[in-house]
Amino acid sequence: MAAIAKVRAREVLDSRGRPTVEVEIAASDGSVASALVPSGASTGTAEACELRDGDAARYDGLGVLRAVENVERVLGPAATGLDPADQETIDRRLLELDGTANKSRLGANAVLGVSLAAAHLAAASSRVPLYRHFCELWQRAAGRFGTGGKKAPRMPVPMTNMISGGLHAGGNLDFQDFLVVPHGAADFPTGLEWIVRIYRRLGRLLSEAGYEGRLVGDEGGYGPRLEDHRQAAQFVVRAIEAAKLRPGQDASLAIDVASTHFFDGRHYRLSLPGAVPLSSAEMIELLVELATHFPVVSIEDGLAEEDWFGWQELCQRLGDRVRLVGDDLFATNAERVKHGIELQAANSVLVKMNQVGTVTETLETMVLADAAGWQRVVSARSGETEDASIADLAVGTAAQHIKIGSVARSERLAKYNRLLRIAEEVGG
Ligand code: PGA
Ligand code: ZN
Repeated sequence: MAAIAKVRAREVLDSRGRPTVEVEIAASDGSVASALVPSGASTGTAEACELRDGDAARYDGLGVLRAVENVERVLGPAATGLDPADQETIDRRLLELDGTANKSRLGANAVLGVSLAAAHLAAASSRVPLYRHFCELWQRAAGRFGTGGKKAPRMPVPMTNMISGGLHAGGNLDFQDFLVVPHGAADFPTGLEWIVRIYRRLGRLLSEAGYEGRLVGDEGGYGPRLEDHRQAAQFVVRAIEAAKLRPGQDASLAIDVASTHFFDGRHYRLSLPGAVPLSSAEMIELLVELATHFPVVSIEDGLAEEDWFGWQELCQRLGDRVRLVGDDLFATNAERVKHGIELQAANSVLVKMNQVGTVTETLETMVLADAAGWQRVVSARSGETEDASIADLAVGTAAQHIKIGSVARSERLAKYNRLLRIAEEVGG
């Protein structure tokens, strides 16, 4: 058995040029590995805490030197000597050291850096690809919960961002992402080729119609100033057709409404000219109408993170034909997912490791969701890095979908390219 011998950390920059944590880790057998932590913009309140320095003189207060120090002085030394393959023990030790419910003492960015680097190290030390190691960890987590959950690694179907709005682009759209799901493709490489074709046709269609079809948002989607969400959905459908594919059969729409960010506690406030504040029931009507007029297979955060009754109602209306994915609603948190299962408030969960802060907790949330028959969508953040771990996580846990952002910007392509390499090994 190899043991963790050394843990180091440094401050590096993410895709928005904001500081984030990189952890380097070495084992007693000479193996080395590293991991980088992503960062969201449209964060949910239930997310684990990202520790920032708050020193306005550096990076406008966004520095992560305190998190780096917490890795080097506290978390790293505590992980030293442990077996990198024993993720559960490592993560338990990290959690004990932090001791808070939301990792606010040492920072979820520090904790996840060590947790994820350890997973990489275990894979490197035993010379298996990371997705195989994640598969092993998944089986163990399923075993602990007694849910069986036997799974072989499998390629996910991507949900790829085409048009960006909300907090991710400078435009006027309230909804955050309009995505394409190439569910009719025979395998991953074919689906990815379709996506690129649709993306390019969309850029051309937008430009021809006088909208911005070149500049892209944080996740690589176009950020045109369109009239409203219906027009955005229309453009994506037209792009699917222009790519000589059949909307609804070859490729369909997914929408991340990210509605928490325009919910004031009582009403959904769209910023469209002339828009009136919508009650939860009216917002549900709007979503049902969208899903009726367009080939929509998935709606994420259609309602806000505290609107549990609204989610229940939406699930009754659309749950049998549309994936209703909780992102801010669940924050990859097992307790919140459990609550959602009891209330039948959704049928899918978005999975972001840094929302919860350790590999073990991420897997436990996924196992719970899977046992309830829910779909799992492994997701990147809007602030990303060259770290491609989520590709391996999605394959190793046989998640149905992966959501990386668009087919532009190399922090996104690092993950798509990783998936292309994995597809050669696992097929599909
Ligand atoms: P975020 O966006 O990383 O800014 O939270 C991604 C998402 O909402 O799915
Ligand atoms: Zn989201």
